[in-house]
Amino acid sequence: MKKIAILTNGGDAPGLNAVIRAIVKTAENNGIECYGYIEGYRGLLDNNYVKLDSSGNASGILNKGGTIIGTSNNTNVFNLKTVNENGEVEYKDFSDKCVQNIKDAGFECLFTLGGDGTQKSSRDFSRKGVNCIGIPKTIDNDVAATDITFGYNTAVSVATEALDRLHTTAEAHHRIMVLEVMGRYAGWITLESAIAGGADCALIPEIPYDINKVIDKINRRKAKGKQFSVIVVSEGAREKDGEMSIKRTFDEGKGLDNVRLGGAGEKLAGRLEEMTGIASRATVLGYVQRGGTPSAYDRVLSTKYGVKAVELAMKGIFNVLVSYKHGEMTYVPLDDVVGKDSVVGAASSKNRTIEMDDPLIHVARQIGICLGD
Ligand code: F6P
Repeated sequence: MKKIAILTNGGDAPGLNAVIRAIVKTAENNGIECYGYIEGYRGLLDNNYVKLDSSGNASGILNKGGTIIGTSNNTNVFNLKTVNENGEVEYKDFSDKCVQNIKDAGFECLFTLGGDGTQKSSRDFSRKGVNCIGIPKTIDNDVAATDITFGYNTAVSVATEALDRLHTTAEAHHRIMVLEVMGRYAGWITLESAIAGGADCALIPEIPYDINKVIDKINRRKAKGKQFSVIVVSEGAREKDGEMSIKRTFDEGKGLDNVRLGGAGEKLAGRLEEMTGIASRATVLGYVQRGGTPSAYDRVLSTKYGVKAVELAMKGIFNVLVSYKHGEMTYVPLDDVVGKDSVVGAASSKNRTIEMDDPLIHVARQIGICLGD
């Protein structure tokens, strides 16, 4: 193996640069040249790439947020939105052009750093004969077939720090403080930060909540002399028989990236204030969870992912996702990650959400965190 390429695609996550660095260093140690496509699949389509060099552009990046090679959202090259000369929207498949670009450049393996949308395209490229290796990136921790994605630990740490800060102001003012965190349709960030940050309630998409159960919890605290409460709510959480809070949809909401969630925190704080008479405030943590320096844990995890990915490529193991299972780096077929369906442009049905028998659910319940049920 002589030449490989990396792309980073979808929403960014802390640790992307740490993975890039690990791939570049491992590749160079083994006499392999490494290149990076600029802005994810967009760069692949435009044939826009740069050489990565551990003593040049890929140096000093371990602790940096974002990605030195850029990323793009909503660039599904198998079904890309275009506008024709009559101003009409048309969806086109540009994947053959991308495959040709890879062949012309002489890249023997494409490393795809991304969440499930990115891995779905990776799987589809592998079906077209490209050697692909996926690495699971997302703060949401919702990629199937791996126990943890890189970026997630940093997001949980950021949410935990926010909860620590909300606690003191909640206590000072005798308020209910609601913190809305990201995670899309999975409640991982909510549940872990609620445990780490000592929240009273954790409301996750997997358990549509009963507002009366949340109020019971607040009242039980009051009865014990606690004049304040702190609640973490997922952006994808909803009340029993209620709707998810959607800020905006694009392209009729088809596909994972075409639904922008938001508002769950405001909605909950409003309902609680109305029903309890206790002053309630919502804070939306937003993109702070994704930006900035990765935690030490994420730097190590990202480095492990990058090293393993190059080792797999050198062994000729392709069309897999590098996966972290039971404390060890391993790999799984991309089909196991995104599902076997071949509906072009559709979101994967295999997102890893929290199962009700997950040990985190048990721990949360045992220490009295109200899950809204
Ligand atoms: O998937 C990561 C994530 O940050 C989600 O938690 C959030 O819902 C979404 O991306 C926001 O996406 P965008 O960058 O398109 O606003």
